[in-house]
Amino acid sequence: MIELKVNGQARKFDGDGDMPLLWYLREELSLTGSKFGCGMGLCGACTVHRNGEAIRSCVTPVKDVAGKDITTIEGLSPNGTHPCQVAWEKHGVAQCGYCQAGQIMQAASLLKKTPKPTDDQIDAAMNGNICRCGTYTRIRAAVKSAAGVKA
Ligand code: FES
Ligand code: FES
Repeated sequence: MIELKVNGQARKFDGDGDMPLLWYLREELSLTGSKFGCGMGLCGACTVHRNGEAIRSCVTPVKDVAGKDITTIEGLSPNGTHPCQVAWEKHGVAQCGYCQAGQIMQAASLLKKTPKPTDDQIDAAMNGNICRCGTYTRIRAAVKSAAGVKA
């Protein structure tokens, strides 16, 4: 039995501990904000937080998050008002939107560790999150806006 917390709620999982966390979140808990992109840890669409740190849920087995706090985009804020979510809306970042939950979770993790990131720090942190629509300029502006740094 694997015990963990997801978005503040205690959960127990008695299935295959090798199941990717992304599957567990989407199929067992119906938390479909985290997306499947590559399934290989290469695109960031599946990004969630483990104890506040961004991880790729597609390559993280459920057994590796036993006893951990997992946060998905659904649990980032109670009403969609995390500074990143507000900034994303203000800057109209999303195009198709597929990558954006992962982008926001990655950015939120960055700002938790580095509240006023430089351009280089933003680029380094966001580097592994791919956007096929090419919204990178707006993503960077939104991260700065969320950090209260002039874009
Ligand atoms: S789906 Fe997880 S990194 Fe691409
Ligand atoms: S907004 Fe379409 S992939 Fe990023």
